[in-house]
Amino acid sequence: MKNILVTGGAGYIGSHTVVELVAAGYNPIILDNFVNSKNMIVERLEKLTKRSLAVYKQDYQDIKKLKVILEKEKIDGVIHFAAHKSVAESVTKPYKYYENNVVGFLELLNELQKSGVHNIVFSSSCTVYGQPDEVPITESSPIKKANSPYGAAKQMCEAILEDMTSAHGMRSLSLRYFNAIGAHPTGMIGELPIGAPTYLVPYLTQAVAGKLPELVVHGSDYPTKDGTCVRDYVHVVDLARAHIKALEFLQKQPLSTYGTYNIGTGQGSSVLEVIKTFQRVTGKKVPYAIGPRRAGDVMSVYASTDSALRSLDWKAQFSLEDALRDAWNWQESLK
Ligand code: WQD
Repeated sequence: MKNILVTGGAGYIGSHTVVELVAAGYNPIILDNFVNSKNMIVERLEKLTKRSLAVYKQDYQDIKKLKVILEKEKIDGVIHFAAHKSVAESVTKPYKYYENNVVGFLELLNELQKSGVHNIVFSSSCTVYGQPDEVPITESSPIKKANSPYGAAKQMCEAILEDMTSAHGMRSLSLRYFNAIGAHPTGMIGELPIGAPTYLVPYLTQAVAGKLPELVVHGSDYPTKDGTCVRDYVHVVDLARAHIKALEFLQKQPLSTYGTYNIGTGQGSSVLEVIKTFQRVTGKKVPYAIGPRRAGDVMSVYASTDSALRSLDWKAQFSLEDALRDAWNWQESLK
C-alpha cells in the first residue's frame, strides 16, 4: 500500500496526517474542496515534507472526478476526513450534515469498492458513545443515542462502513478521536479559525490573543475533581500518527476486517486544569469567568486506549503541556 487518498487532506487533522504519511514513506494524494482550508496550508505542507504534493481541489462527493483520481493515481487506500464538523451547526442544519457526511460517504464507499480500493480508515469520534455510563470508555461501551446530528451521522457512517466492509471484502477501521487539540510543533500548520470557535482550546488561545472576549467556563458544579467537565485532550500529531498505524495494521488483516479504536490519551483533564496548564507553559494569563453549564455537555469523558495499543501499537506520546504550547505557537503565528 503506497498511494493514499486523503479526503479533507488540507483540513486540520488531515494536513497533520499528510505530514506523517510522507514521513512513513507513503504517497499522500490530497482531495479537498478548501471550504475549511486555505492554499497556504498546501504550501506549508510542501515545505514541511520537502516535496511537491498531488492536490485535487474538488468536492469528495463529485464521483465523476473521483473516478479520474482513482485511476490516475492508482490509489491503494483512503483516509476519509472530509466532513462538516460543527456539532452546534449540525443541530440547526441537520440536512447539511446528513447529506454531506452520510450520503456522501455512502457514495464514496460505493465507488471505492467498485474501483477495487479496499482499504479505508474513517475519521470517527468519541461522540458516538453519547452520554457514557462509565469512564474510561472502551470500544465495547454501548453506543447510545447521539446528542446531535453530527454525532448521529458518525454513528451511521460507522454502521455503513462495517456493512460495506463485510459485504465487499474491504478492510477498514473507524478511529474514534477524543478531543483533538494542538498544532504541528513547527508552528507551520494548525487549525484555521472559521468564525468564533466553540471548542475550548481554540477559543482559549483566541481569547488570550485578545481576539475574543474572556473564556466562559461552562459550569463548575459538576461532581468532578474541581467541579468542571473532564475531557481527553489528544495532540493532533499523535492523532495523525494513529492513521499510519491503522494503515500498517490493515495491511496485515484478512479481507472483510472491520474494527473501531479509541484514539485518546487515556487521561482526563478538567477545564480548569487546561487553563492552569496553559498559563504555566506559556506564561500567559487566560481571561476567564465561571458561567452556567452548557446544554448537552457530558460530565466526564476519557478513553481506554488499551485496544489501540494492543492491536495498532499506538499510544499518545505528547502531553497536555506539549499540545497547549503548540496550540499557542500556532495562534501566535497567525498574527
Ligand atoms: C470541552 C470542554 C466544555 C468551550 C467536542 C465535540 C465532540 C468531539 C470532541 C468531534 C467542555 C468546556 C468549552 C468554552 C468551556 N468532536 N468549554 N468553555 O464538547 O467535549 O467535544 O469535541 O468529533 O463531538 O462535541 O469539546 O472543546 O467544546 O469542550 O468551558 O468556551 O470545555 O464545557 O467541558 P466537547 P469542547
